[in-house]
Amino acid sequence: MKNSELIDIAIGAMKSSYAPYSKYNVGAAILTKSGKVYTGCNIENASYSATNCAERTAIFKAVSDGEKGFRKIAIVGGKNGEITNYAPPCGICRQVLAEFCDNDFIVITAKSSEEYIEYTLEELLPNNFKLKI
Ligand code: THU
Repeated sequence: MKNSELIDIAIGAMKSSYAPYSKYNVGAAILTKSGKVYTGCNIENASYSATNCAERTAIFKAVSDGEKGFRKIAIVGGKNGEITNYAPPCGICRQVLAEFCDNDFIVITAKSSEEYIEYTLEELLPNNFKLKI
């Protein structure tokens, strides 16, 4: 799947964002190694720390559906649903991605389907913690 297609799906997912407190809407779309796409949005809570980010919503949906291998994720976000800048994943989401994704997994942060930056997970979370037992 092309990056532009995955970004468009993330933009669509942003419409489901529940962000009455920050008014910052985020959408994500993650592509599995099996070729499926799972979407996610941020879901806030009156007890703020119970908020779930869009990236984690997407990957948790996929994992709960039995998916464990991933190729890339596209992320978009902006205040009041307007994408004016890039929305890179927070530290917690980077760690959650690292649990299931290889170091060459691609993270795409986008302003539009044509304007985006690609990182590897290794670049965003170098020397990440994994329990190898
Ligand atoms: N947010 C995400 O959805 N993903 C991130 O990686 C960073 C932050 C959400 C959480 C909260 O609902 C809003 O953005 C403002 O922090």
